[in-house]
Amino acid sequence: MSDPTHTARRTVLAAGAAALAGGALTACGSDGEKSPEGQSNGSASAPAASTAATPESGSAGAQVLAKTADVPKGGGTILKEEKLVVTQPTAGSFRCFTAVCPHQGCLVNKVENGSIDCSCHGSKFAIADGAVTKGPSTKGLAEKKIKVAADGNISLA
Ligand code: FES
Repeated sequence: MSDPTHTARRTVLAAGAAALAGGALTACGSDGEKSPEGQSNGSASAPAASTAATPESGSAGAQVLAKTADVPKGGGTILKEEKLVVTQPTAGSFRCFTAVCPHQGCLVNKVENGSIDCSCHGSKFAIADGAVTKGPSTKGLAEKKIKVAADGNISLA
């Protein structure tokens, strides 16, 4: 019986100190009155438990690059900020490549007629696999792994 009494005294002293510290703290104190009625341990663990229950959105962390509806069939969408190009070579099949041209580093700027084009020097790349279809680039666009969610969100895998 001596322990709960001791804890209760400490709680009262802490509450008194808070009340003396300023009027604003008194409002906070009214929330705290719920738990420390008779349970000496409950008051300390209650706030910690409520914080631990909060993180439920951690699994949806991947950044959405585009929606499948935004990527034309037989074409693609250039994402300038991400320096990526997402293509849909055939219906329902999506690919993603770097948008940085391997020739001299320009960003590709057009997806047309099954081709990803770089206007700097005229290189062209296939939307299906990023391979060079026209130089001067000698290397294709590197592919990036993506995942397509059921709701149509495309994100990096
Ligand atoms: Fe793209 Fe030269 S940088 S063709």
